[in-house]
Amino acid sequence: MNKDLKILVTGVKGQLGFDCVRILKERGYCRVLGIDKDELDITDEEAVNRFILEYKPDVIMHNAAWTAVDKAEEMPDLVYKVNALGPKYIATAANKVGAKMFYISTDYVFDGEGTVPFEVDSPKDGLSIYGKTKSQGEDFVINGTNKYFIIRISWVFGINGNNYIKTMLKLSKIKDELNIVCDQVGSPTYTYDLANLMADMMETDKYGVYHATNEGFCSWYDFTKYIYKAKWITNVKVNPITTEEYLKINPNQAKRPLNSRMSKASLVKAGFNLLPKWEDAVDRYLKELGNDY
Ligand SMILES: NC(=O)c1ccc[n+]([C@@H]2O[C@H](COP(=O)([O-])OP(=O)(O)OC[C@H]3O[C@@H](n4cnc5c(N)ncnc54)[C@H](OP(=O)(O)O)[C@@H]3O)[C@@H](O)[C@H]2O)c1
Repeated sequence: MNKDLKILVTGVKGQLGFDCVRILKERGYCRVLGIDKDELDITDEEAVNRFILEYKPDVIMHNAAWTAVDKAEEMPDLVYKVNALGPKYIATAANKVGAKMFYISTDYVFDGEGTVPFEVDSPKDGLSIYGKTKSQGEDFVINGTNKYFIIRISWVFGINGNNYIKTMLKLSKIKDELNIVCDQVGSPTYTYDLANLMADMMETDKYGVYHATNEGFCSWYDFTKYIYKAKWITNVKVNPITTEEYLKINPNQAKRPLNSRMSKASLVKAGFNLLPKWEDAVDRYLKELGNDY
């Protein structure tokens, strides 16, 4: 392993970017630079080009994105700039300096039809502005550089920032009953596990598109029940409801895919380790989190 690699990590104030920097430093890489919007606004083409040409990274882990899925529906132009044009500018500059580029994408690029896991090359047809713009970002990256790792993930949780697990834990302090969707099925992704996989991938030339969530599938209802059971939370009654019922209560929500199952065949074929089972990831995460929520 080359510990002298110069690695640029975007989105360091978010969930995944934070863990990428943490894991890379833990592994002994000493030339790791984590940045966020204050240091570089990725929608500014000239600034992106200048920054990357001056810094000359060997690897760019591009995690920054517009991730507020519902709010994205209200400002599609801005979200396109962040999720599609930003990665385009980064890929173009990465290509100029010969850097490997990671682009983190999402299950939301698919339409969520059926029950069969989506393959990396399944047709894309995102249901929301977030899903469509992330898909456009993928296409720009593929056109901008050959040295890309596109990794689709879903239902992300990490120590830094907000996520579903923290929300459920907070709600358990003020609610005694919750209605949770039971017909959207997917896989949670622990940023600690993903960042470790990215660090492994970075040392290879096995470029391409991958799916890399924690193993196993569950619904949001299963996920919630598991979190509460693991934390011995018994004061909240969790009721399963359908997406249709949920949308009647929250009509302005962006459309979510019912089927977020993604196949890991390309990961296995390339010889990378699958991430641990999602229940194991939640257990470790809850230990890491303690009562800090
Ligand atoms: N969270 C999920 O459930 C999920 C699911 C599937 C895929 N993903 C993908 O996984 C990646 C990491 O997600 P995450 O949950 O770690 O994201 P996150 O916690 O929301 O962090 C994203 C970071 O990007 C920054 N950012 C936004 N606009 C920017 C801009 N114009 N220039 C520079 N930085 C900007 C944000 O800053 P501000 O907060 O100041 O805007 C934030 O610090 C993203 O690419 C996301 O699309 C996430």
